[in-house]
Amino acid sequence: MKHSRIIAALAALACALPAWAGEIDDEVLAAPCAGCHGTDGASAGLSMPTIGGLPREYFISVMQKFRDGRRASTIMGRIARGYDDDQLARLADYFADRPWRTQQARLNPELVARGKALHEKYCANCHLADGLYAEATLPRLGGQWPEYLHMQLQECKLENRPVPQPNLMALRLGSLSDEDLQALAHYYASQH
Ligand code: HEC
Ligand code: HEC
Repeated sequence: MKHSRIIAALAALACALPAWAGEIDDEVLAAPCAGCHGTDGASAGLSMPTIGGLPREYFISVMQKFRDGRRASTIMGRIARGYDDDQLARLADYFADRPWRTQQARLNPELVARGKALHEKYCANCHLADGLYAEATLPRLGGQWPEYLHMQLQECKLENRPVPQPNLMALRLGSLSDEDLQALAHYYASQH
């Protein structure tokens, strides 16, 4: 697949940098991330998450999970292994300081409405404020790319794979169909 070849090429570039980087400034440390996650972490889509504006603690814990193989990933496991804890903390500060930028995604209004009802029933007690709320351990979902959200939700439903979400959340997802997951993804993407 063409897309995966591009990802592999960018990943090779990203992995090569930290090795010779040493004491470099934060802009340089974060530069390889822009190839996939966009300038200032504002992703241009579609399955690539926006990371500019993510909470610091969440950012560090997710990168450590990628590095240790505790969170499923296509590419981030390899990339995260190129950074030590100090560098991850600096990257976390750098991206937490960027403003969140919601990009225009193509959304289906019927899915958005269906997703809203599902959100209120299953997810609203943790993902507060229509998914816009974020705190130390909880990422913002509002305005994230729908394709990325859908992929994460599918991953969370799969068994025998390390998933990002706590068990409580996986339990709630268990009873939902794939169209439900798509509806939730469209709903969150519509919030900004
Ligand atoms: C080759 C493309 C690529 C590069 C380069 C890249 N990423 Fe990623 N990133 C992804 C993909 C794809 C995902 C979704 C998880 C996966 O499949 O690996 C992701 C997910 C993430 C997430 C999780 C977002 C969330 O909402 O939980 C964080 C954080 C992240 N990347 C940080 C970084 C940082 C920091 C860098 C630079 C050091 C970086 N990425 C470089 C492709 C990339
Ligand atoms: C018990 C609290 C709780 C409930 C209920 C919950 N979540 Fe979560 N969710 C979390 C936490 C905590 C995380 C961050 C997990 C981590 O550290 O990787 C998360 C992460 C996510 C992510 C990954 C975001 C990313 O950027 O990778 C998605 C998507 C998500 N939740 C969607 C949902 C949906 C949809 C529902 C309802 C069906 C739901 N959650 C219900 C607590 C919850």
